[in-house]
Amino acid sequence: MSTTQTIDPARLAKLIETEEAVFNERHKHSREMTERARKSLAGGVASSWQATDPHPIYLVEGHGSKVVDVDGNEYVDFHNGYGAMAVGHAHPKIVATVSARVGRGTHFAQPTEESIAVAEHLQQRFGLPLWRFGNSGTEETLDAVRLMRAYTGRDILLKIEGSYHGHHDAVMVSVAPPGDKIGEYENPVSVPQTLGLPADFVNLTKVVPFNDLDALERTLEKYRGRVAGMIVEPCMMNAGIVTPDEGYLEGVKALLHAHGALLAFDEVKTGATIHYGGATRRFGVTPDLLCLAKSVGGGLPCGAIGGSEQVMGWIAEGKIDQVGTFNGNPLTMAAMHTTLTEILTPDAYDEFDRLGEILREGCDGVIDHTGVQGYTTVLSGRGAVTYRAERVRNYREYLEVSDELAYVNWLVQFNRGVFMAPWGKSENWTLSVQHSAEDVQRYVDNFEELGKALTA
Ligand SMILES: Cc1ncc(COP(=O)(O)O)c(C=O)c1O
Repeated sequence: MSTTQTIDPARLAKLIETEEAVFNERHKHSREMTERARKSLAGGVASSWQATDPHPIYLVEGHGSKVVDVDGNEYVDFHNGYGAMAVGHAHPKIVATVSARVGRGTHFAQPTEESIAVAEHLQQRFGLPLWRFGNSGTEETLDAVRLMRAYTGRDILLKIEGSYHGHHDAVMVSVAPPGDKIGEYENPVSVPQTLGLPADFVNLTKVVPFNDLDALERTLEKYRGRVAGMIVEPCMMNAGIVTPDEGYLEGVKALLHAHGALLAFDEVKTGATIHYGGATRRFGVTPDLLCLAKSVGGGLPCGAIGGSEQVMGWIAEGKIDQVGTFNGNPLTMAAMHTTLTEILTPDAYDEFDRLGEILREGCDGVIDHTGVQGYTTVLSGRGAVTYRAERVRNYREYLEVSDELAYVNWLVQFNRGVFMAPWGKSENWTLSVQHSAEDVQRYVDNFEELGKALTA
């Protein structure tokens, strides 16, 4: 059941109109900048996923938990660079580390001691023995797919319907497919996310619903002996937040292994935010390959892939090339080391839990007393309000979540000093170690105001 059923649509439409007017009034310079940017940047943004309605917001700086836009508006940052800034902005330790490294040279394309220190840390933190580096989440999932295909000598990749793993061809399939293109639940269609994907590539990526072991088993049977592996976000983070059912991840691993296929976890979003040891430790399932990026780098472009001796051993033996000019870049390595060993320490996750609880209690309280249908999910530094009465378990259920409510909350939060990621219901919040109880209370207070405006 959708939330909008309990809310007067006319009232919702009116609120959206009022909030959009306030939003436009507060962002005149961002609007001017959008016009200027459109003449040199395709669509006025550096990445399609920075574009947003009514228009993008151009930022000038960030300090601690706050960012400031070109119109001088200050916000508590809940976007946090699409989840890459769990350290918060201009963290003094990152500023000191990066400043010290800049003066000693920023790039050699030769190994430095920092890369060993980071790999040693990742080993103990995530429990996987061998690591390599890259520069983005996309590079890591690309490497994971290639490794799975190389190691098994098979071509078919499985992925979850409605999950995003970066922008390379193998995974730009059924990322956010429209409901009328996805086919029957029993037989989901592989839908290209963008033009430019060769049909043969799309065909090699088969999709399965999240939280359904029977569907996975049927698919593995159907393509028996042809599946290289499966890439999975252990907790879906680009369809709001969709948590795994009890036993699901263990089941996925067992089924894949029974079919001679491998399991890669995409922990680009979860790795440094939902637990000290990511989803891997939080849910207690260790994959064959683990992809990290975003928050592990403290705000620098980063990526890391870890794996078992057997699979990563193929890189070590030179059977697979895992390469990149900037891999192990000393500036990134220095920031990553400080981030992981001095900032995102176990204490940081205790504090995320404490702040997350304020958000969960506060937002669920508003939901309870206003009658807005929905629920709050909090996993340490990440969380989301989902506008659907029952818990979402897969992409098709996520499609039933109210777009309008997510959008109006986005506007209400923005107009009252909380910066949210673009794309409404698909996104969720990321806290940083520099967020305070007061910061998160602001989100709850705004949400309360929204609840009252819609239902009182
Ligand atoms: C789960 C997941 N995997 C991979 C990526 C790709 O990471 P990047 O944008 O660093 O290439 C993203 C980006 O949002 C992501 O959310």
